[in-house]
Amino acid sequence: MTSRKPLIAGNWKMHKTGPEAVESSRQLVKLTAAVDQVDVMIAPPFTALAQVAEVLRGTRIMLAAQNMHWETRGAFTGEISSEMLISAGCTHVILGHSERRQFFGETDQTVNLKLKAALAAGLRPVVCIGESESEREEGKTFSVLDKQVQNGLKGLLSDDLKELILAYEPVWAIGTGKTASSQQAQEVHAYLRGQLAETYGRAIADKVRILYGGSVKPSNVAELMAMDDVDGALVGGASLDPETFSKLVHYQN
Ligand code: PGA
Repeated sequence: MTSRKPLIAGNWKMHKTGPEAVESSRQLVKLTAAVDQVDVMIAPPFTALAQVAEVLRGTRIMLAAQNMHWETRGAFTGEISSEMLISAGCTHVILGHSERRQFFGETDQTVNLKLKAALAAGLRPVVCIGESESEREEGKTFSVLDKQVQNGLKGLLSDDLKELILAYEPVWAIGTGKTASSQQAQEVHAYLRGQLAETYGRAIADKVRILYGGSVKPSNVAELMAMDDVDGALVGGASLDPETFSKLVHYQN
């Protein structure tokens, strides 16, 4: 048995103004106040981070950003640095989300730069990987994931792995209503953990939390979470409504 604590994380993407985010996080604090078997995290848009941090202060809900730049400061119009995120109250940052890869030119190389910068700054990274529909159909799922892990995590030391959270998000399941079956998720998660074990050793690989993401909702969360190597969920659509998200957090009930 492992001691990996489950983590339910909400990625709000480009949703909610400051006041809306404050209202949602207030509700979430109330709805999840009694939960201590499960870690909870939310990733509001940049503009709401500092306000939401105030709401979350003293609660167990953790605050993540959805992206960052790898440089600490400089002439990078429109970008945000690790130190800005930390000063806004973030402890975590999502890196390499498939929407960033698809629409904003994110590559394994930029994920790697960001990952190292986040670790150096003391932010805990949630690194997203996942295959597209055509890659899965062509039988390339594992080779795509291998490449994303090898290049994305290049140069990381065993010690760094203690801070890392991995999120397997098959691109074909994001926002589509198509969820990977719990067996499909388990198969990939076990594979990923095996790959981590080869590089960093079994003891360390056994400690890394691997989240599943892609159309997770109250009706499928328990089944996914019952899988040995599924340690949590990264949730988009179903994280926007606090009541629904709270149902996900309470999946054990
Ligand atoms: P979804 O998004 O839950 O809306 O499919 C998941 C994600 O993109 O993290």
